[in-house]
Amino acid sequence: MWLYLAAFLGLFYLVRWYRERQIVSHLPDKYVFITGCDSGFGKLLARQLDARGLKVLAACLTEKGAEELRDQTSDRLETVILNVTKTESVAAAAQWVKERVEDRGLWGLVNNAGISLPTGPNEWLTKEDFVTILDVNLLGLIDVTLNLLPLVRKARGRVVNVSSIAGRVSFFGGGYCISKYGVEAFSDSLRRELSYFGVKVSMIEPGHFKTAVNSKERFLKSFQELWDRAKPEVKQVYGEKFLESYMKKTENLEQKCTEDLSLVTNCMEHALTAHHPRTRYSAGWDAKLLYLPMSYLPSLLVDAMVYWGSPRPAKAL
Ligand SMILES: NC(=O)c1ccc[n+]([C@@H]2O[C@H](COP(=O)([O-])OP(=O)(O)OC[C@H]3O[C@@H](n4cnc5c(N)ncnc54)[C@H](OP(=O)(O)O)[C@@H]3O)[C@@H](O)[C@H]2O)c1
Ligand SMILES: *[C@@H]1O[C@H](CO)[C@@H](O)[C@H](O)[C@H]1NC(C)=O
Ligand SMILES: *[C@@H]1O[C@H](CO)[C@@H](O)[C@H](O)[C@H]1NC(C)=O
Repeated sequence: MWLYLAAFLGLFYLVRWYRERQIVSHLPDKYVFITGCDSGFGKLLARQLDARGLKVLAACLTEKGAEELRDQTSDRLETVILNVTKTESVAAAAQWVKERVEDRGLWGLVNNAGISLPTGPNEWLTKEDFVTILDVNLLGLIDVTLNLLPLVRKARGRVVNVSSIAGRVSFFGGGYCISKYGVEAFSDSLRRELSYFGVKVSMIEPGHFKTAVNSKERFLKSFQELWDRAKPEVKQVYGEKFLESYMKKTENLEQKCTEDLSLVTNCMEHALTAHHPRTRYSAGWDAKLLYLPMSYLPSLLVDAMVYWGSPRPAKAL
């Protein structure tokens, strides 16, 4: 019985390995548009695809980021300034892409731009704090996608959305997890809709990686600001000790982060270049061995795991 199971698993992985090795042809003719290329995954992916000979159209938030990227890449790569929260900026970038790809259409769209702050216990936050994150991570991405979809359809291309393990398990408060759950929901419905047109949609679900979104300094500064402006009642209920342990936990955050960002960008590259891209890619051991299995567990167990690692408010019963 075990022998059959092992043989079956072996065969499954062999077939999958063979299927996933097949790469699409004419890569140097293909255009890929990536958002958030100033730093982190976006920047690395832009460099990686450029080195592979694809035509990269890289959107950066700032001119400084764009300049830095151009210095590190070939003349094939072109940059545009894009703030995904501004409708005019998105429309202008879409027009810019259209002028470049013309009749060939856009082979790849990578929705990568994202922010993680302000994050904290829900009660410490205001509606505006939620709006800030949802505007970039969810509505910005939807706007970019809707504007570029006609070009992607023309090329029968690919959409790659950067979600997160936080789109599988909601283990902290604020807009970030909500935005990533939203990315998962949208990608699922649109994958089904777009399959009629030969467009494939993949999601990348990274664990913790060492980039600006996980910067310890930024998190600590933001927590302190949230605490300072919190209502007296909230301060009383949570207590200074809670803040202290919360800060301490964050101090250790960077140690938990994987340094090798290529684990993520290799998934993105596969989603863009393989004949048979996966629907979901989880990147990093924490994502594969902890958070992904966690997302399939009953809520009771997930709750217990989250309580176990979290500080308790002063007035907890
Ligand atoms: N690092 C992780 O552990 C992790 C885990 C799961 C998912 N993710 C996701 O991965 C994606 C990339 O993040 P990263 O880790 O590579 O961090 P990052 O280095 O901060 O990259 C995010 C990029 O988005 C840009 N950006 C921010 N606001 C924008 C806006 N309004 N319009 C356009 N661009 C904007 C940033 O520009 P500036 O640099 O100029 O601010 C930056 O280039 C995000 O969607 C993030 O949620 C990250
Ligand atoms: C992006 O746009 C928002 C408002 O739409 C603005 O608050 C923010 O400062 C802009 N970011 C940059 C870097 O221009
Ligand atoms: C992700 O992919 C789908 C499919 O193309 C797209 O329509 C959607 O707006 C993208 N963004 C989000 C936030 O899901």
